[in-house]
Order: sequence, then structure tokens, then C-alpha cells
Amino acid sequence: MKIPFINLAPQHEALMEKFHQAFDQVFEENSFILGPAVTLFEKAVEKEYGVPHAIGVNSGTDALLLSLKALGISAGDEVIVPTFTFVAVADVVTRLGARPVFVDVDPITYNVAIDSVTHAITPKTKAIIAVHMFGQACDLAQLMQLANAHGIFLVEDVSQAQGARIGNKYLGTMGVTGCFSFYPTKNLGGVGDGGMIITHNDEVAERIRRYRDHGRDNTGQFQDIGFNSRLDSLQAAVLKIKFEELDEAISDRIENARYYNDLLTDSGVTLPEFHERGEHTYNLYSIQYEHRDSLRAFLAQREIGTAVYYDRPLHLQPCFAYLGYKEGDFPVAERVSKRVISLPIYPGLRMKQLEEVAASILEFIELKSAEPEA
Ligand SMILES: Cc1ncc(COP(=O)(O)O)c(C=O)c1O
Repeated sequence: MKIPFINLAPQHEALMEKFHQAFDQVFEENSFILGPAVTLFEKAVEKEYGVPHAIGVNSGTDALLLSLKALGISAGDEVIVPTFTFVAVADVVTRLGARPVFVDVDPITYNVAIDSVTHAITPKTKAIIAVHMFGQACDLAQLMQLANAHGIFLVEDVSQAQGARIGNKYLGTMGVTGCFSFYPTKNLGGVGDGGMIITHNDEVAERIRRYRDHGRDNTGQFQDIGFNSRLDSLQAAVLKIKFEELDEAISDRIENARYYNDLLTDSGVTLPEFHERGEHTYNLYSIQYEHRDSLRAFLAQREIGTAVYYDRPLHLQPCFAYLGYKEGDFPVAERVSKRVISLPIYPGLRMKQLEEVAASILEFIELKSAEPEA
């Protein structure tokens, strides 16, 4: 049975008719960038998340970039970011002339380790980017307390965790801004690039609205040097339809995670924490295993797709060599990056497929344990 790492078709098939109707509408409106479809999607997000401002942009990367710029981050500032995450989280800091300050992560949740953040704060620290890794909420209570105590902005990166909640509050609504990516594989994925920023702050929102469109204000003047970070209408039309289905898609992910956790209990791999609803949405279902690469090869032979997020922490990436970090600086991230492997988890996977993935992993572990010690 061929099981790709990602297959978006099961989610999309049921919605094709709605997509086509929405596309017809966009063509009728003849407004393809920041058109009525973008406004409608923004309004839907504002309503669901209870925020006054949802601003569609072209990607999750620019959601972060525009947030930081709107907060005034610039040369001489430091921004605390996890070393175990996607490169965009740190590269936006560098692009604004500021310095990314890396911190280590928790070995089970993969979210920033609070003590590492505490140690990284200096008088130059202007912001912390709390990345809700793999779909699971960071310890926001502690991060917000730290941020408030030191007068630092807390930016939430909800790219991997859209729809997750702490209590009755959605992630993204607690930081000064919440940033989303609509990369196709995310919880809410488009059919191309897209992103969004939500905020309660009117001034920050106004700046972001200008920056996404070359610095243009609502009188047509160019107030700032901005960017072309606009969201397309066709993309927004798809996203609005998929936003209505998001809760169901997350429930599927949670069901799949529950089943994997049951099937792999006591197998010797490190499993993610299981949450019924709320704090983990399993955008990625990542386990840890010491023979990760040979397990991947074994699964690939059986046409089971896997992926590694992330095989090298950011402090050891060539593009950040100029910051002067070295191997050993963040031991948890370094260890995890050698052991982590993500399994297929997308909505629409069938029970039989989950069973086949788990059975193959158990078989490999059995084979490994029968090998004579080297
Ligand atoms: C945590 C995180 N932040 C930011 C991004 C960047 O989003 P995009 O690919 O939409 O620019 C991603 C996407 O892959 C991500 O996973």
C-alpha cells in the first residue's frame, strides 16, 4: 500500500465544486489582488478569532517580517527565536538588520525551553517569537509573563498550529501579533503561498496594512518603504472555504495521532504528547528514534513517505555562521534533529494506512533489536 507523506487530494476532492463557484465569483469581480474575496476571508477570521484585525499577506514569512517591522525592530535590536524551527523565523530578523538570538527547545514538545529564553534576555532584546511547533501550543503563560516583566514584544508564530487553543483562546490572539502561513501542508493550507497576521493593536495593524502594499496609505500616498506582500483573491477564496472545514480537519489529525500513539505505545520511540482537543493540532506527527535514517529508508522501501523537520538546527546553518554559534551550544535541539522523523498524519488517511505505518515501524524496531551489538 503506497502511503505518501502528504496527500491533499482527500481534503480537496469534497470541496472542488465550492472552489469552482468561488473562482467564478472572483473572475466576475475581476479583482485579483486584495479584492473582495480577501476582505471576506479577513472578516471571517476576525469573527472566529474575536480580533479586530486580520490582515492577509503573501506568506507566513512575510507575516513575521511585517509584524517585526511594524513593532519597530531594526539594527541593534535582538530577537529571541528557537534554534529548532523553520529558517524563516530567524531570517526575517536578519533581514531587518537585527540579531537573531537562538534558544534551545524542550525535548518532548519541541517548543522553546523557558529557562533558555530567560537566559537569553539582554537589554537589547526587543521581541520573542513563540513558534507553536508541529501544532502544539508553547507555554504562553510563562512567555507572556517574561515578556511583560522585561517590556518585550511577544510575537506568536502559529504557522504550524492554526486552530489550536489554550482554554477557549485561539493561538495567535495572545501575542501582540499572531502570524499564520497558508503553505498547502499547514492545518489551513491554500493552493499556493499565503499568510495572515492577526492583532488587537490598531496602530500595528495600520502599519502592517501599509507595509503589505508598498507603504501605501488609504489616500494613495506612499508613507513608508514597504513590500509587495499582498494576498491574492483566488487564494483567499479557497482559504475561506477551507477555514469553514478547519475544525473537522483538525479533529481528523487528532484522531490519527491518537491511533498512532496507541499503536506505538511502549515501542521504544519517543511519541508526542496526546491531547484530546485544544493544545495540539498535529500539523506534524513527529516521533524520535535513534536509528532514524535507517528507519526512513526501510519505510521508503515500502513506499511509506516520511519527512524530517528539521535535520539541522538553525544555529548550525551556514547562513547564520556569522552569528558565531557552534556545535554543543544547544544540546537538546542538536540531539532531537538527529532523531526526529515525521509520519503521514493528514486528514483523510485511512485506519488501515495508519496501521500499516505503525506495523512497519514495529517490524523495523524488532529487526534492529535482533541485530548483534556492534
Ligand atoms: C514555523 C513556521 N514559520 C514560518 C513559516 C513560513 O511560512 P511560508 O512558507 O508561508 O512563508 C513556516 C512555513 O513553512 C513555518 O513552519
